[in-house]
Amino acid sequence: MQYQWYPGHMTKARRQMQEDLKLIDAVIELVDARIPYSSKNPDIQTMAANKSRVLLLNKADLADPGKTAAWRAYYEAQGYFVVPVNSKTGSVKVVNSIITQACREKIERDRRRGILNRPLRAMIVGIPNVGKSTFINAFAGKAIAKTGNKPGVTKGKQWIRLNKSVELLDTPGILWPKFEDQAVGLRIALIGSINDEILVTTELGFELCRFLTAEYPGAAAAKYGVEECEDGNKLLARIAEKRACRKSGGELDIEKAASFLLDDFRNGRLGPISLESAPRAEQKKTPAGAKEQEKKQL
Ligand code: G4P
Repeated sequence: MQYQWYPGHMTKARRQMQEDLKLIDAVIELVDARIPYSSKNPDIQTMAANKSRVLLLNKADLADPGKTAAWRAYYEAQGYFVVPVNSKTGSVKVVNSIITQACREKIERDRRRGILNRPLRAMIVGIPNVGKSTFINAFAGKAIAKTGNKPGVTKGKQWIRLNKSVELLDTPGILWPKFEDQAVGLRIALIGSINDEILVTTELGFELCRFLTAEYPGAAAAKYGVEECEDGNKLLARIAEKRACRKSGGELDIEKAASFLLDDFRNGRLGPISLESAPRAEQKKTPAGAKEQEKKQL
Protein backbone atom coordinates (compact mmCIF):
# COMPACT_ATOMS: atom_id res chain seq x y z
CA MET A 1 0.00 0.00 0.00
CA GLN A 2 1.44 3.35 -1.06
CA TYR A 3 0.61 6.56 0.76
CA GLN A 4 1.09 9.72 -1.19
CA TRP A 5 1.24 13.41 -0.61
CA TYR A 6 1.04 16.27 -3.06
CA PRO A 7 4.26 18.22 -2.68
CA GLY A 8 3.65 20.58 -5.65
CA HIS A 9 3.13 23.74 -3.62
CA MET A 10 5.66 22.81 -0.95
CA THR A 11 8.66 24.49 -2.61
CA LYS A 12 6.80 27.79 -2.64
CA ALA A 13 5.64 27.28 0.93
CA ARG A 14 9.18 26.55 2.04
CA ARG A 15 10.56 29.70 0.39
CA GLN A 16 7.83 31.79 1.99
CA MET A 17 8.56 30.24 5.37
CA GLN A 18 12.27 31.00 5.07
CA GLU A 19 11.40 34.67 4.44
CA ASP A 20 8.97 34.76 7.36
CA LEU A 21 11.43 33.10 9.70
CA LYS A 22 13.78 36.09 9.30
CA LEU A 23 11.18 38.26 11.00
CA ILE A 24 10.53 36.23 14.11
CA ASP A 25 12.10 35.36 17.47
CA ALA A 26 10.23 32.16 18.32
CA VAL A 27 8.88 29.27 16.28
CA ILE A 28 5.77 27.65 17.72
CA GLU A 29 5.64 24.23 16.16
CA LEU A 30 2.46 22.16 16.39
CA VAL A 31 2.53 18.39 16.26
CA ASP A 32 -0.29 15.92 16.79
CA ALA A 33 0.02 14.48 20.31
CA ARG A 34 -1.05 11.05 19.02
CA ILE A 35 1.93 10.91 16.63
CA PRO A 36 4.54 13.41 17.85
CA TYR A 37 7.27 11.79 15.75
CA SER A 38 5.41 11.29 12.47
CA SER A 39 3.73 14.69 12.48
CA LYS A 40 7.04 16.52 13.01
CA ASN A 41 9.23 17.62 10.13
CA PRO A 42 12.91 17.76 11.09
CA ASP A 43 13.67 20.34 8.35
CA ILE A 44 12.27 23.09 10.51
CA GLN A 45 15.18 22.47 12.88
CA THR A 46 17.67 23.56 10.22
CA MET A 47 15.48 26.30 8.85
CA ALA A 48 14.93 27.84 12.29
CA ALA A 49 18.22 26.84 13.86
CA ASN A 50 18.81 30.04 15.85
CA LYS A 51 15.23 30.66 16.95
CA SER A 52 13.62 29.88 20.27
CA ARG A 53 11.59 26.73 19.90
CA VAL A 54 8.21 26.03 21.41
CA LEU A 55 6.62 22.67 20.69
CA LEU A 56 2.89 22.20 21.22
CA LEU A 57 1.58 18.65 21.50
CA ASN A 58 -1.81 19.56 20.08
CA LYS A 59 -4.99 17.46 20.22
CA ALA A 60 -3.76 16.23 23.60
CA ASP A 61 -7.41 15.55 24.45
CA LEU A 62 -7.31 12.64 21.96
CA ALA A 63 -3.93 11.25 23.07
CA ASP A 64 -2.84 8.87 25.81
CA PRO A 65 -1.81 11.16 28.74
CA GLY A 66 0.98 8.81 29.90
CA LYS A 67 2.54 8.71 26.43
CA THR A 68 2.12 12.47 26.05
CA ALA A 69 4.05 13.03 29.29
CA ALA A 70 6.86 10.80 28.01
CA TRP A 71 7.01 12.70 24.69
CA ARG A 72 7.11 15.97 26.57
CA ALA A 73 10.15 14.85 28.53
CA TYR A 74 11.75 13.49 25.35
CA TYR A 75 11.48 16.78 23.45
CA GLU A 76 12.36 18.91 26.49
CA ALA A 77 15.60 16.97 26.66
CA GLN A 78 16.24 18.17 23.09
CA GLY A 79 15.91 21.83 24.08
CA TYR A 80 12.28 22.51 23.21
CA PHE A 81 9.82 24.29 25.46
CA VAL A 82 7.01 21.78 25.33
CA VAL A 83 3.37 21.89 26.37
CA PRO A 84 0.40 19.62 25.58
CA VAL A 85 -2.68 21.57 24.48
CA ASN A 86 -6.25 21.10 23.36
CA SER A 87 -6.81 24.01 20.98
CA LYS A 88 -10.35 22.98 20.18
CA THR A 89 -12.02 23.04 23.57
CA GLY A 90 -9.26 23.66 26.12
CA SER A 91 -7.31 26.68 27.30
CA VAL A 92 -4.12 27.67 25.48
CA LYS A 93 -3.21 30.59 27.75
CA VAL A 94 -0.16 28.79 29.10
CA VAL A 95 1.54 29.24 25.71
CA ASN A 96 2.06 32.92 26.45
CA SER A 97 4.37 32.28 29.37
CA ILE A 98 6.08 29.44 27.49
CA ILE A 99 7.00 31.87 24.69
CA THR A 100 8.46 34.28 27.23
CA GLN A 101 10.45 31.49 28.85
CA ALA A 102 11.70 30.30 25.47
CA CYS A 103 12.83 33.83 24.56
CA ARG A 104 14.44 34.62 27.91
CA GLU A 105 17.91 35.00 26.39
CA LYS A 106 16.67 37.38 23.72
CA ILE A 107 14.81 39.48 26.28
CA GLU A 108 17.97 39.62 28.36
CA ARG A 109 20.08 40.60 25.30
CA ASP A 110 17.63 43.40 24.45
CA ARG A 111 17.66 44.61 28.03
CA ARG A 112 21.46 44.85 28.02
CA ARG A 113 21.23 46.98 24.86
CA GLY A 114 18.72 49.23 26.53
CA ILE A 115 15.76 47.92 24.52
CA LEU A 116 12.88 47.41 26.88
CA ASN A 117 9.47 45.88 26.22
CA ARG A 118 9.97 45.15 22.53
CA PRO A 119 7.25 42.58 21.74
CA LEU A 120 8.43 39.09 20.91
CA ARG A 121 7.47 37.94 17.44
CA ALA A 122 6.31 34.39 16.95
CA MET A 123 5.13 32.22 14.09
CA ILE A 124 3.10 29.00 14.01
CA VAL A 125 4.29 26.09 11.88
CA GLY A 126 3.08 22.53 11.36
CA ILE A 127 1.92 19.94 8.86
CA PRO A 128 -1.58 20.23 7.38
CA ASN A 129 -4.51 19.43 9.68
CA VAL A 130 -2.46 19.49 12.86
CA GLY A 131 -4.61 22.33 14.20
CA LYS A 132 -2.72 25.53 13.29
CA SER A 133 -5.78 27.66 12.47
CA THR A 134 -7.71 26.33 15.45
CA PHE A 135 -4.78 27.18 17.71
CA ILE A 136 -4.35 30.67 16.26
CA ASN A 137 -8.04 31.36 16.80
CA ALA A 138 -7.96 30.07 20.36
CA PHE A 139 -4.72 31.85 21.22
CA ALA A 140 -5.48 35.16 19.57
CA GLY A 141 -9.29 35.14 19.90
CA LYS A 142 -10.12 38.71 20.80
CA ALA A 143 -6.98 40.11 19.17
CA ILE A 144 -8.08 38.71 15.79
CA ALA A 145 -11.52 40.19 16.24
CA LYS A 146 -9.95 43.56 17.00
CA THR A 147 -7.73 43.68 13.90
CA GLY A 148 -10.70 42.45 11.87
CA ASN A 149 -12.57 45.62 12.81
CA LYS A 150 -9.94 47.77 11.17
CA PRO A 151 -9.77 46.69 7.54
CA GLY A 152 -6.66 47.34 5.53
CA VAL A 153 -4.51 48.49 8.47
CA THR A 154 -1.29 47.13 7.09
CA LYS A 155 -0.09 45.92 3.77
CA GLY A 156 2.25 42.94 3.65
CA LYS A 157 2.75 41.00 6.86
CA GLN A 158 -0.12 40.96 9.30
CA TRP A 159 0.76 40.65 12.95
CA ILE A 160 -1.70 39.82 15.64
CA ARG A 161 -0.83 41.78 18.77
CA LEU A 162 -1.68 39.32 21.51
CA ASN A 163 -0.63 41.51 24.44
CA LYS A 164 2.15 43.92 25.17
CA SER A 165 4.79 41.24 25.03
CA VAL A 166 3.86 38.96 22.09
CA GLU A 167 2.97 39.43 18.43
CA LEU A 168 1.96 36.54 16.22
CA LEU A 169 2.32 36.31 12.44
CA ASP A 170 -1.23 35.74 11.27
CA THR A 171 -0.44 33.17 8.57
CA PRO A 172 0.99 29.84 9.70
CA GLY A 173 3.86 28.06 7.94
CA ILE A 174 2.91 24.75 6.39
CA LEU A 175 5.40 21.94 6.81
CA TRP A 176 5.37 18.71 4.86
CA PRO A 177 5.37 15.27 6.45
CA LYS A 178 8.21 12.79 6.00
CA PHE A 179 6.44 10.76 3.39
CA GLU A 180 9.39 8.75 2.25
CA ASP A 181 8.80 6.66 5.36
CA GLN A 182 5.78 4.37 4.84
CA ALA A 183 5.18 3.85 8.57
CA VAL A 184 4.91 7.61 8.98
CA GLY A 185 2.46 7.77 6.05
CA LEU A 186 0.35 5.07 7.64
CA ARG A 187 0.09 6.88 10.97
CA ILE A 188 -0.73 10.19 9.31
CA ALA A 189 -3.43 8.38 7.33
CA LEU A 190 -4.81 6.80 10.51
CA ILE A 191 -5.30 10.15 12.23
CA GLY A 192 -7.12 11.36 9.11
CA SER A 193 -4.66 13.88 7.70
CA ILE A 194 -4.42 12.45 4.19
CA ASN A 195 -7.13 13.13 1.67
CA ASP A 196 -9.58 10.24 2.09
CA GLU A 197 -9.86 9.55 -1.63
CA ILE A 198 -6.39 8.10 -1.81
CA LEU A 199 -6.81 5.87 1.19
CA VAL A 200 -7.69 2.26 1.31
CA THR A 201 -10.12 2.42 4.20
CA THR A 202 -10.26 -1.33 4.80
CA GLU A 203 -6.51 -1.60 5.05
CA LEU A 204 -6.33 1.27 7.52
CA GLY A 205 -9.09 -0.36 9.57
CA PHE A 206 -7.15 -3.59 9.59
CA GLU A 207 -3.94 -1.86 10.74
CA LEU A 208 -5.83 -0.04 13.46
CA CYS A 209 -7.43 -3.30 14.69
CA ARG A 210 -4.01 -4.91 14.91
CA PHE A 211 -2.58 -1.95 16.78
CA LEU A 212 -5.48 -1.68 19.22
CA THR A 213 -5.39 -5.35 20.16
CA ALA A 214 -1.66 -5.17 20.83
CA GLU A 215 -1.42 -1.76 22.52
CA TYR A 216 -4.85 -0.97 23.91
CA PRO A 217 -6.44 -4.34 24.72
CA GLY A 218 -10.04 -3.89 25.78
CA ALA A 219 -10.66 -0.68 23.79
CA ALA A 220 -12.44 -2.38 20.87
CA ALA A 221 -14.25 -4.80 23.19
CA ALA A 222 -15.54 -1.93 25.31
CA LYS A 223 -16.72 0.11 22.34
CA TYR A 224 -18.22 -2.59 20.13
CA GLY A 225 -18.86 -5.53 22.48
CA VAL A 226 -16.66 -7.81 20.35
CA GLU A 227 -14.23 -10.50 21.39
CA GLU A 228 -10.74 -9.24 20.50
CA CYS A 229 -8.22 -11.27 18.51
CA GLU A 230 -4.80 -10.69 17.00
CA ASP A 231 -6.03 -11.14 13.45
CA GLY A 232 -6.99 -7.63 12.32
CA ASN A 233 -9.23 -8.92 9.50
CA LYS A 234 -11.17 -11.13 11.88
CA LEU A 235 -11.62 -8.35 14.39
CA LEU A 236 -12.84 -6.00 11.66
CA ALA A 237 -15.36 -8.64 10.56
CA ARG A 238 -16.59 -8.97 14.15
CA ILE A 239 -17.05 -5.21 14.37
CA ALA A 240 -18.96 -5.30 11.06
CA GLU A 241 -21.21 -8.01 12.47
CA LYS A 242 -21.91 -6.17 15.72
CA ARG A 243 -22.52 -2.91 13.90
CA ALA A 244 -24.76 -4.70 11.38
CA CYS A 245 -22.66 -3.42 8.47
CA ARG A 246 -23.98 -5.41 5.51
CA LYS A 247 -24.13 -4.93 1.77
CA SER A 248 -27.46 -5.22 -0.04
CA GLY A 249 -26.85 -8.96 -0.66
CA GLY A 250 -26.42 -9.56 3.08
CA GLU A 251 -22.64 -9.97 2.91
CA LEU A 252 -20.59 -8.19 5.65
CA ASP A 253 -19.51 -4.69 4.62
CA ILE A 254 -15.95 -4.57 5.95
CA GLU A 255 -15.20 -1.19 4.40
CA LYS A 256 -18.13 0.37 6.22
CA ALA A 257 -16.99 -1.17 9.52
CA ALA A 258 -13.48 0.15 8.91
CA SER A 259 -14.96 3.58 8.26
CA PHE A 260 -16.86 3.47 11.57
CA LEU A 261 -13.77 2.34 13.42
CA LEU A 262 -11.54 5.06 11.93
CA ASP A 263 -14.12 7.71 12.62
CA ASP A 264 -14.49 6.57 16.24
CA PHE A 265 -10.72 6.56 16.70
CA ARG A 266 -10.16 9.96 15.06
CA ASN A 267 -12.82 11.55 17.22
CA GLY A 268 -11.62 10.04 20.47
CA ARG A 269 -14.59 7.71 20.92
CA LEU A 270 -12.32 4.72 21.61
CA GLY A 271 -10.73 6.67 24.46
CA PRO A 272 -7.47 8.64 24.43
CA ILE A 273 -5.06 6.70 22.23
CA SER A 274 -1.55 7.49 20.96
CA LEU A 275 -0.02 5.64 18.03
CA GLU A 276 3.57 6.41 19.02
CA SER A 277 5.54 6.10 22.24
CA ALA A 278 8.58 8.22 23.07
CA PRO A 279 11.90 6.40 22.87
CA ARG A 280 12.98 5.16 26.28
CA ALA A 281 15.37 7.36 28.28
CA GLU A 282 18.40 5.12 27.82
CA GLN A 283 17.99 5.28 24.05
CA LYS A 284 18.07 9.07 23.94
CA LYS A 285 21.85 8.99 23.78
CA THR A 286 21.87 6.80 20.66
CA PRO A 287 19.83 8.65 18.07
CA ALA A 288 20.01 5.77 15.58
CA GLY A 289 18.52 3.35 18.11
CA ALA A 290 15.91 5.87 19.16
CA LYS A 291 14.88 6.42 15.56
CA GLU A 292 14.48 2.71 15.02
CA GLN A 293 12.26 2.40 18.06
CA GLU A 294 10.17 5.37 16.95
CA LYS A 295 9.67 3.73 13.57
CA LYS A 296 8.80 0.29 14.89
CA GLN A 297 5.57 1.24 16.59
CA LEU A 298 3.17 0.38 13.85
P1 G4P B 1 -4.58 23.27 10.15
O1 G4P B 1 -4.87 24.75 10.19
O2 G4P B 1 -3.29 22.91 10.80
O3 G4P B 1 -4.69 22.66 8.80
O4 G4P B 1 -5.70 22.53 11.06
P2 G4P B 1 -7.12 23.09 11.56
O5 G4P B 1 -6.95 24.16 12.56
O6 G4P B 1 -7.98 23.33 10.39
O7 G4P B 1 -7.67 21.79 12.35
C1 G4P B 1 -7.89 20.55 11.71
C2 G4P B 1 -8.93 19.77 12.50
O8 G4P B 1 -8.42 19.45 13.79
C3 G4P B 1 -10.25 20.51 12.75
O9 G4P B 1 -11.29 19.54 12.75
C4 G4P B 1 -10.08 21.03 14.17
O10 G4P B 1 -11.32 21.26 14.82
C5 G4P B 1 -9.35 19.87 14.80
N1 G4P B 1 -8.56 20.27 15.98
C6 G4P B 1 -7.63 21.24 16.06
N2 G4P B 1 -7.08 21.28 17.29
C7 G4P B 1 -7.68 20.31 18.01
C8 G4P B 1 -7.52 19.83 19.37
O11 G4P B 1 -6.70 20.30 20.15
N3 G4P B 1 -8.32 18.78 19.72
C9 G4P B 1 -9.22 18.20 18.87
N4 G4P B 1 -9.95 17.17 19.33
N5 G4P B 1 -9.38 18.62 17.60
C10 G4P B 1 -8.62 19.66 17.17
P3 G4P B 1 -12.32 19.41 11.59
O12 G4P B 1 -13.09 18.19 11.85
O13 G4P B 1 -11.59 19.53 10.28
O14 G4P B 1 -13.18 20.70 11.73
P4 G4P B 1 -14.25 21.06 12.88
O15 G4P B 1 -15.50 20.41 12.41
O16 G4P B 1 -13.79 20.51 14.19
O17 G4P B 1 -14.28 22.54 12.85
